[in-house]
Amino acid sequence: MDIFIKDLSKHIGKNVRIRGWVYNWRSSGKIYFLQVRDGSGFLQAIVEEKSLKEPQMWDDVQKITLESVVELEGIVNEHPKRPGEYELHVTALRVFQIAPEYPIGKKEHGPDFLLDNRHLWIRSQRQWAILRIRAEIHHYIEDFLRSHGFIRFDAPILTPSACEGTTTLFGVDYFDLGQAYLSQSGQLYLEAGIAALGRVYDFGPTFRAEKSKTRRHLTEFWMMDAEAAFMEHEENMRIQEELIIYIVQKALENCKRELAMIERDIEPLKKIKTPFYRMTHRQAVKKLRELGSNINEKEDLGGEDETLLTQNYDNPIFIEKYPAALKAFYMKRDPENPELSLCDDLLAPEGYGEIIGGSQREDDYKNLLERIREQKLPEKDFQWYLDTRRFGSVPHSGFGVGLERLVAWICSLKHVRETIPFPRMITRKTP
Ligand code: 4AD
Ligand code: MG
Repeated sequence: MDIFIKDLSKHIGKNVRIRGWVYNWRSSGKIYFLQVRDGSGFLQAIVEEKSLKEPQMWDDVQKITLESVVELEGIVNEHPKRPGEYELHVTALRVFQIAPEYPIGKKEHGPDFLLDNRHLWIRSQRQWAILRIRAEIHHYIEDFLRSHGFIRFDAPILTPSACEGTTTLFGVDYFDLGQAYLSQSGQLYLEAGIAALGRVYDFGPTFRAEKSKTRRHLTEFWMMDAEAAFMEHEENMRIQEELIIYIVQKALENCKRELAMIERDIEPLKKIKTPFYRMTHRQAVKKLRELGSNINEKEDLGGEDETLLTQNYDNPIFIEKYPAALKAFYMKRDPENPELSLCDDLLAPEGYGEIIGGSQREDDYKNLLERIREQKLPEKDFQWYLDTRRFGSVPHSGFGVGLERLVAWICSLKHVRETIPFPRMITRKTP
C-alpha cells in the first residue's frame, strides 16, 4: 500500500510503500541507512542485501546520492530507542532518479549562497518546519476571521492609486490606460466591501518599493486586511488581541514538532495573554527616550526603536494614537485631539516590533476629501472611494497583519526572508 510518511504510525508491522528524496545516508558496507523525506515527514529506511527481493536492488542502493529519489517497500517498525519515530525495513527499492552532486552540503553556507539556492534550500528540515508553520498560521487567521463573521473578499492587485503613500508604489504599464500600481494593501477596497457584506477580509500578496534593507522588510509580502462596519477603535484593538491569542495558542497546540525542530523556546509564547500592553505614541516616545533613543514626539518609531521597546516586554504592545501627520490619509482623527489618529500598531515582544497596523477610518465625506487634497492624491482616482462616504457611510475600522513578520516572531527568526518560500527584497528578485 502507498502511504505518506506522516501516517507510518498507523501501519506498524505492516508492509507499505513510500516515495521520496534521500536527504542523507550512511553505510557500513553491509547495511545502508537512508534518511528519506516525502514532504509529509522524515523516515529512516534500513536496507540490507539479504532482505531485498532482487539482487539488482542492492546494486541500485549503492548508487544513491543526496537528493536521489526512491520508492521503498518494506515493513514499518517503531524506532527501538526513539518512540514516536519509525523505520522502514526495506524489501524492495526502485530508483526514480540518481541526482548529481548536490550543492547544499553539510558544511555551513552563507546567507547569499542559500538565498541564491532558495529553490533547493527550502528542502532543508529547518525550512520545512518554518514553511509548515507559515501555512498553519495562514489557516488560523482565516479560521478566526470566519468564526467572527468575516467574509473573504479578494481585493485587486493591479490598482489605479496608492493606499499607503505614493513613495513606495511599484508601477506597471497598463495598456492604453497608463500606469497601474501593484497593491500596497487591499484596505480601500475592503472599505467598499463592508457596505455589501458587513465584515470582510482579504489575504494576498502586497507590494512596497521600500528602500529598506532591514530584517523586517520585503518588497513583496502577504497581508491579511480585515475591515468591519460599525466597529470602532476600541473594538478594533480587542479583535486584533483575540486574533493573536488564537494564533499563538493554535501554533502551540499544532506546531509543537515544527517549533521544536527550529529550536524555538516556546516559554515566551506560552506567556502571551490578554490584555496586551497599551501605550499612546506619546507614552511610547517617553519610554523610548528613557531607554536611550533620541526619538521625538513628532517622529515615527524606527525599527531600532521597536526592538528597544519590545525586548523588555513579555506580551505584545499596542501603540495608539500616533500624530496624524505620520499616518495615512484615511485614518479618523481622535475626537479628543484632532492632531492624533485613532490608530494602533501592534508590536510583538522579544524585540520583534510591528506585526499589525490598524485604525478607525475617516467616515465623513468632507474630512476625507480634505485629507486627499492635503496629501495631493489624485482626486479623480479616489472618486469611487469617496462614494463609500457619500452613500451610506458608517463608522468602521480595520487592520492589516503582515504574515511574514508574524511568522518571524512565532518562529523566533532573525530575518523575515526565511518566512516566505521565495523572498523578494530590494537586492533580490531571484530565484
Ligand atoms: O502598517 P501597514 O502599512 O498597514 C496597512 O497597509 C493598512 N492598510 C492595513 C489595514 O489597516 N488594513 O501594513 C500592515 C502590516 C504591518 O504591520 C507589517 O506587519 C506588514 O504589514 N508590512 C510588511 N511586512 C514585510 N515587509 C514590508 N515591507 C512590510 N510593510 C508592512
Ligand atoms: Mg504600519
